[in-house]
Amino acid sequence: YWFRWLSVQGAPRLALRLHARRGDPFAELMGGPRGVADPYPLIERLRGEGRLIRTPIAWATFDHELCRSILRDNRFGVRTTESFDIPGPMQKLAKHSPLPPNPVEPPSMLVIDPPEHTRMRKPVASAFTPRAIGRLRDRVETVTAELLEALPAGGSADLITAFAAQVPIAIISEMLGFPDSDKERFLQWGDRMTPLLDVGISWRAHRRALRAMEVMNDYLDTHIRRLRRSPGDDIFSALVTAGELDEFELKASASLLMGAGFETTVNLIGNGVVQLLEHPEQLARLRAEPELWPNAVEEVLRFDSPVQTTARTAVCDVEIAGTRVRAGDTVVLSLAGANRDPAVFPEPDRFDVGRANAKEHLSFSSGVHVCLGASLARMEGVYALQALFDRFPDLALDGPPRRRELFTLHGYEQLPVRLGQRA
Ligand code: HEM
Repeated sequence: YWFRWLSVQGAPRLALRLHARRGDPFAELMGGPRGVADPYPLIERLRGEGRLIRTPIAWATFDHELCRSILRDNRFGVRTTESFDIPGPMQKLAKHSPLPPNPVEPPSMLVIDPPEHTRMRKPVASAFTPRAIGRLRDRVETVTAELLEALPAGGSADLITAFAAQVPIAIISEMLGFPDSDKERFLQWGDRMTPLLDVGISWRAHRRALRAMEVMNDYLDTHIRRLRRSPGDDIFSALVTAGELDEFELKASASLLMGAGFETTVNLIGNGVVQLLEHPEQLARLRAEPELWPNAVEEVLRFDSPVQTTARTAVCDVEIAGTRVRAGDTVVLSLAGANRDPAVFPEPDRFDVGRANAKEHLSFSSGVHVCLGASLARMEGVYALQALFDRFPDLALDGPPRRRELFTLHGYEQLPVRLGQRA
């Protein structure tokens, strides 16, 4: 653990800390309290520095057009352990301490390039067809209704644990054939492993994440054995029996789907609740024009992106925005910054559920890694938010919401609410 932390996290952590102390806005955005609480003023400062800027650990852009074109450019790839100006010998050290299959290391499709990426993504993508998602619609509706029924009408609750996290975890658990009783474990593993998406995390957070990986690995071994003996009609049983992916690849895919399936959608729902409560005139508009709900969800995704950044590494020397980016250099792509780019979204800091081009946000990324679960996430977001506000029209905050201390994933860990009266 120690070696690995030092090689992939320690160096960027030191750089970010030193620069944050000197007031560098990028270092604060990626590793300071302001980056968690309200990243947007920092993003605007950085946007003012240019379309492509040099930061203490990498290049970075906050520009919609540039983010989109880099995501779709095959001269850029995703090689995370070789990113962020980590010295070569340190990268080698990390490779000598292999980890159990997990969402953020190869062969997880998230962090590999074509052609391997295509081979890993194809069998999983076949489970996410519009027909398959359509079949899940009834389940999302039922799960949402059951959860709302269980909330103490007239009382108080933490909306994240009691609702926002429960909708996506229930659906992804079913898709992966996991028993309902194991949901709490997944929530715990997700909580421990998501800091790995950030750059320069602490030694303690890193150790907790790697331990969770090991426990999850054992769990998935047993789960795959069970599905081989008696497959269900879930998508993971189909993947296991199809035989296109080996054991290690199956576990990497399952862990990615599990994390991606709920750690992001919980933020969409939570961020949506907060935005709508902070903009009552927008909520009133949705009551008058409920057909706007799908667009409102796009606007929540744009306005407060659940995934704030991703990164790409140049595979050869590339000239972009008049700057030469060398092979091996990493560019941090601020999806949240792209979503507030005034060149694409007029008055970008205004939350407007009727915004005509809200759907042009990059919250689901773009190019070959575009989010596989986007239509599922959209469906969950629309059902969950609309049903919640229909059922509790007087929903109100019951104390300040608390943000998760993460930079890449952006959402709340606590959202205390009063549940108004029944509709
Ligand atoms: C990839 C966002 C929900 C599965 C991604 C990426 C983003 C993203 C930004 C690409 C990262 C990159 O380009 O480096 C989101 C958001 C969600 C969401 C904001 C919810 C609001 C889901 C759900 C699932 C899912 C519900 C599955 C059930 C995946 C997978 C990938 C992915 C498998 C990897 C695709 C690849 O690398 O080819 N997501 N996601 N996501 N997402 Fe999502």
